[in-house]
Amino acid sequence: MKALVLAGGSGTRLRPITHTSAKQLVPVANKPVLFYGLESIAAAGIREVGIVVGDTHEEIEGAVGDGGSFGLEVTYLRQRAPLGLAHAVLIARDYLGDDDFVMYLGDNFVVGGIEPLVRRFHDERPAAQIMLTRVGDPRQFGVAELDAAGRVVGLEEKPQVPKSDLALVGVYLFTPEVHEAVSSLKPSWRGELEITDAIQWLLDSGRRVESTVISGYWKDTGNVTDMLEVNRLLLEELDQRLDGSVDDASEIIGRVVVEAGARVSRSRIVGPAIVGAGAVVRDSYIGPFTSVAEDCHVVDSEIEYSILLRRASIHGVRRIEASLIGRDVEVTPAPNTPRAHRLVLGDHSKVQISS
Ligand code: TTP
Repeated sequence: MKALVLAGGSGTRLRPITHTSAKQLVPVANKPVLFYGLESIAAAGIREVGIVVGDTHEEIEGAVGDGGSFGLEVTYLRQRAPLGLAHAVLIARDYLGDDDFVMYLGDNFVVGGIEPLVRRFHDERPAAQIMLTRVGDPRQFGVAELDAAGRVVGLEEKPQVPKSDLALVGVYLFTPEVHEAVSSLKPSWRGELEITDAIQWLLDSGRRVESTVISGYWKDTGNVTDMLEVNRLLLEELDQRLDGSVDDASEIIGRVVVEAGARVSRSRIVGPAIVGAGAVVRDSYIGPFTSVAEDCHVVDSEIEYSILLRRASIHGVRRIEASLIGRDVEVTPAPNTPRAHRLVLGDHSKVQISS
């Protein structure tokens, strides 16, 4: 069995972060979201992994390498444009050969891993096995319709009038029968080859499609709100570890990790929170559910429920909340006079100013 991990895409919902960086590498609890997926693939006993990459291929390849550090053998598969999840299967045809495979969306996060699902698939070997979860607003998802016995009878991509509240989670298992389905697809109204259409094709041609409704936690980290939520969830698991330096004038409360090489002085950190290696926190407050990446500077500031990417700096600002702050960003206060905002913002930035 192989794995196909999708790490291309356009990432429009995470702009401007995705203008310069792959969304699958945005860290949650200071580790790229993609790494959690690769770890759960390895934990399910799978070794051979094809990673579908697009424009951000260099960054993904730089971070994951040959996969050896995860116990995996990684092959990179270049997708020339994000033409859909089923298009990714199409370009992986030669790599996948006649093997069964698990397809894993590289920006998805599944608590509890995929090992039980893979085991069930081995035992039953339907043409496709999908994972479903109940969601509040199914219109933003692929939605499955089940019969009374729990069998999948139909699928729809982002329906206006959903037939159920069961959304597809970004982990799918397939036998090689899916290749026949994928090669007969036509692009949808959004111009993409949809994996839901491929699974519908399997259903229409009488193949067996099984589903598991997961009760555990799943998030697509494609937008900032979900990213912060996954970060919160992971930080909840932390145990306190203070490997960096924390001076006597600082107060550390609860489950806080200060990595080796980080320096905390005259500050108060209320966990769960993590401060990465080489970061400096001075005269500041860091509140719950905050991840401060390596080499960040938080000086004379207050921040909580936020993610700071590498080398971001915040000087003299209070208070920052529910924010995702990119690499090498500088946040400073505006001078008091004149009372005006001076902004240099990348395309698609979103800024909320209280005035
Ligand atoms: P999506 O989040 O559905 O799509 P996207 O990356 O284009 O993002 P947005 O909707 O914000 O524009 O993709 C799910 C995962 O699959 C993600 O890791 C990107 C990856 N992907 C590919 O590798 N190739 C593709 O053609 C598509 C559509 C997605």
